[in-house]
Amino acid sequence: MTELTRDVVIVGAGAAGTTAANELKKAGLSVVVLEARDRVGGRLWTDVVDGAMLEIGGQWVSPDQDALKETLAELGLETYSRYREGESVYIGRSGELTRFTGEIFPVAPETEKEIVRLIEVLDGMVAEIDPDKPWEHPDAEALDRVSFEAWLEEQTDDQEARDNIALFIAGAMLTKPAYAFSALQALLMAASAGSFSHLVDADFILDERVVGGLQQVPLLLAERLGDDVVLDQPVTEVHWGEDGVRVVTDNGLEVRARFVILAHAPILYPWIEFQPALPRLKQQMHQHISMGFVIKVHAVYDRPFWREQGLSGTAFSPYEISHEAYDNTNHGDERGTLVGFVSDRNADDLFRVSAEERKERILESLSHYYGPEAKNPLVYFESDWGAEEWTRGAYAASFDLGGLARYGADLRTPVGPIHFACSDMAGAGYQHVDGAIRMGRLVAANIVEAARR
Ligand code: FDA
Repeated sequence: MTELTRDVVIVGAGAAGTTAANELKKAGLSVVVLEARDRVGGRLWTDVVDGAMLEIGGQWVSPDQDALKETLAELGLETYSRYREGESVYIGRSGELTRFTGEIFPVAPETEKEIVRLIEVLDGMVAEIDPDKPWEHPDAEALDRVSFEAWLEEQTDDQEARDNIALFIAGAMLTKPAYAFSALQALLMAASAGSFSHLVDADFILDERVVGGLQQVPLLLAERLGDDVVLDQPVTEVHWGEDGVRVVTDNGLEVRARFVILAHAPILYPWIEFQPALPRLKQQMHQHISMGFVIKVHAVYDRPFWREQGLSGTAFSPYEISHEAYDNTNHGDERGTLVGFVSDRNADDLFRVSAEERKERILESLSHYYGPEAKNPLVYFESDWGAEEWTRGAYAASFDLGGLARYGADLRTPVGPIHFACSDMAGAGYQHVDGAIRMGRLVAANIVEAARR
């Protein structure tokens, strides 16, 4: 057993953990980051697969993400725009494909009117929500009791309008069916991005990428910490009391510290043994949080052939296995890359069939948007975060029905020397790297203050 002593031990070398560690070090506190995996970055993972550089995890940066943008600038990382020249495609309820430009999908005029009206209603409600305290909204309890799907059913009889509005939050963000989370949780998701309109606008929410990959953020932050980041150290025990913590890994490391930060998805807390146990309400709360489930599909071709047809690569359909897809060609790459997303129930269905059939059905879905050439990529890869022991889903975690109003206010509250930070508990930037950085900064500031007392 190797023993270390530090002011703060941080569990997890993702964007939140590496940010917190750097902030604490700047404030003069000693730190060590213990990472379960053999790499830094968590849900940020840029890797080369069969000769193609792929963003296996998070990749996009949007204009409202100030904390991430500041960090990118500080680390000297360059960004580039997602390719968006030409027309987008939409496949409607009848299976018919339509090319379009702009944000609103090409649906029947009465459906379009309903979509525009619902976006206005949601923007109005989102403006009343503080993403850091959605439970303080006067109607929080009522909004948290009704599923987003049921709430939409109260708003309109137009099925296609409902399917499209649901898509922006359910398939595209929380990656859970719209009946599995509340209207309040949906409003938080939109408020965390500034407005519901922002989620509808792919040019906003999926604006830029980082040259060389977004994993460079935690990698460069970890580089600054040198030997104070230790890989292959899954933390299995946290012993805590008034004097601080003793954190044990299952690879022979023990750290004594004044504080610990659990900088990973909250669904993973139950995998750690706490001595004494966490307070009962925390334990209850953690059982009401679950990860979404999405397969991010990468298909690389000898050229971006869809551009020759005047297509931007942007494609949507609530009725397709891959409900959204984009041109994801790397900066300066001659080859063309498409990225598609298969979410929640579609993902469940595809994990009931063989890997070959899954690939065939996903490529078939992409071919509905881009034509038969989409069926024959040079490189094909599925990011399967559900299989990752130290994440267990994607993109992030959210409360089940009623959980946000009931427990949300306590999610970030420290327990003695135990502090919590993760993108999955952010207000602004919730479920995004921006939120992870914000939470890393916040928890560091709280610990610096507590350490002074
Ligand atoms: P994260 O999960 O990254 O880090 C936690 C770390 O803790 C991990 O390294 C894990 O191994 C470690 N850990 C867990 N348990 C441990 C234990 N017991 N002991 C030691 N270590 C432990 N965001 C965005 O801004 N733009 C985007 O385009 C996307 N797209 C996207 C696609 C996909 C497929 C995914 C999976 C995610 C995204 N995201 C995203 C979300 C974004 O990647 C995510 O919100 C942040 O990277 C989360 O950072 P955290 O540091 O909070 O947790």
